[in-house]
Amino acid sequence: MSDNEPVTTDKLPQHIAIIMDGNGRWAQARGKKRVFGHKAGMERAREMAETCGELGVKFLTLFAFSSENWNRPAEEVSFLMDLFATSLKNESKKLNKNNVKLKVIGDKAGFDKGLQKAIDKAEALTADNDGLTLNIAANYGGRWDIMQASQQLLTSGRELTEANLVKYLATGTAPEPDLLIRTGGEKRISNFLLWQAAYSELYFSDVLWPDFDGEQLKLALADYAQRQRRFGKTGEQVTG
Ligand code: FPP
Repeated sequence: MSDNEPVTTDKLPQHIAIIMDGNGRWAQARGKKRVFGHKAGMERAREMAETCGELGVKFLTLFAFSSENWNRPAEEVSFLMDLFATSLKNESKKLNKNNVKLKVIGDKAGFDKGLQKAIDKAEALTADNDGLTLNIAANYGGRWDIMQASQQLLTSGRELTEANLVKYLATGTAPEPDLLIRTGGEKRISNFLLWQAAYSELYFSDVLWPDFDGEQLKLALADYAQRQRRFGKTGEQVTG
């Protein structure tokens, strides 16, 4: 956090999911290439993971690269892949030291072998940690997730129930996100955690991702703390 004011932790979300939007515009507003914004966005992602770990948030899921992002200009895609690979290599020791369990959720088969290896290595190194679980959603799409989980369930021969399907979703044993944040001004889910976000509280911020600092997170958490989560029940039922 950028100052030392405590955040009320009685209503701290266990799981925060973030659509980190606005990197390109952030860079362009500074007369720079879009990729400059992704680099700044990566720094911000790292800082967000640290802050969430310090606050005691148990799960943080960041949307880093969607199944649809392959359609961006080749130069940008290749920059994002390199940034991802380099960051995995440079950051995994520190993540491990901070007791973070790193997981990449998404269709890993779509990445080149080198990146797949870097992902496996970082996941293996941090597998036994029990602090923050940091899910990086890369080559991820909510529809893909539901389809791949259905396929696994079908192959298993188990009965088609919600409880059985959920076990195969890419987020695994993580609880569903309590709070889903999208930065950058757009108000849509963009094929992120379609199943898992069914009851998430949504928070949309106009702030571009590279500017979404600890102060901004604090605003989101304060807003979340005021929400009454009803999960389909009436207000009276929830408050008793
Ligand atoms: C959306 O901004 C951002 C992305 C598609 C990539 C997100 C990637 C990072 C934050 C860096 C990598 C992070 C990790 C954790 C691997 P945009 O480019 O759509 O911005 P725009 O809407 O302004 O064009």
